[in-house]
Amino acid sequence: MEKAKYIWMNGEFVNWDDAKVHILTHTLHYGNGVFEGTRAYKTQKGLAIFRLRDHTKRLLNSAKITAIKTPYTLEELEKAQIELLRKNDFDGNVYIRPLIYLGYGVMGLYHINAPVEVAIAAWKWGTYLGEEGLEKGIRVKISSFARNSVKSTMGKAKAVANYLNSQLAKYEAIEAGYEEALLLDEEGFVAEGSGECLFIVRDGVLITPPNDNSLESITQDTVLRIARDKNIPIERRRITRDEVYICDEAFFTGTAAEVTPIREVDARVIGNGARGPITKELQEAYFDVVYGRNEAYEHMLTYI
Ligand SMILES: Cc1ncc(COP(=O)(O)O)c(C=O)c1O
Repeated sequence: MEKAKYIWMNGEFVNWDDAKVHILTHTLHYGNGVFEGTRAYKTQKGLAIFRLRDHTKRLLNSAKITAIKTPYTLEELEKAQIELLRKNDFDGNVYIRPLIYLGYGVMGLYHINAPVEVAIAAWKWGTYLGEEGLEKGIRVKISSFARNSVKSTMGKAKAVANYLNSQLAKYEAIEAGYEEALLLDEEGFVAEGSGECLFIVRDGVLITPPNDNSLESITQDTVLRIARDKNIPIERRRITRDEVYICDEAFFTGTAAEVTPIREVDARVIGNGARGPITKELQEAYFDVVYGRNEAYEHMLTYI
């Protein structure tokens, strides 16, 4: 990881190496914290944060779901992210990681008296699943782990605790020689990747599951808007594992993963084993949007 100069912690800009926490930080022990992952792209008009408001809203909603009272407003958190990018003076694309966590001072599960801390880090980050993956597609394994049950955890929150499930699925996939995991829900329908949502294409129709068992993905929403503008037919419905095997094209969407084609699932080649034509069209359109090359989507960018 490439260090930046400053990290924002509870209203102060702290030197990167000094942004530390106590070992008895509540979240480290009991896993109640929420975070975001947001990207800023180097556009022709300078660095621009993509869908800042939507990411910051989701952060506050995540905290509400896990019963954490955030001591900052939406506007204050947006301003902090903009100022952090300005102060760090980045010369490339950036990933922003806001984190709301419970700090030091109270132990035991009843968390309500623990101090609520907020930190925002940002660093230069390239592609998540590799440049080659963006062009040629990645190999995916259906996980032996079911996605966290909605009966016991809450997938609309980008909660740190939800990522143990993601982490173990990702670990299993990589150790088995794949690049990413696809998790099914407890009924066997596609939920999401370890950090992405899934799209498939069948007979020219773009299909993605509803967000019943996945995060309300901002990238998925962006791709759906682009597809609507291009008059590509869309279906939002459940997908089974065997339908993924026989689809014409498949791809993942996520802030980190952007639009990543899938060329193989469980040793079944998807389509012709390369990035499909609709995937390519949507991927190119997505990059035009985030890099500020499509005026109709300019409102999604916050220039810093
Ligand atoms: C579990 C999970 N699903 C889906 C996504 C995609 O969401 P977004 O497009 O808002 O980044 C992410 C990444 O944030 C994620 O962690």
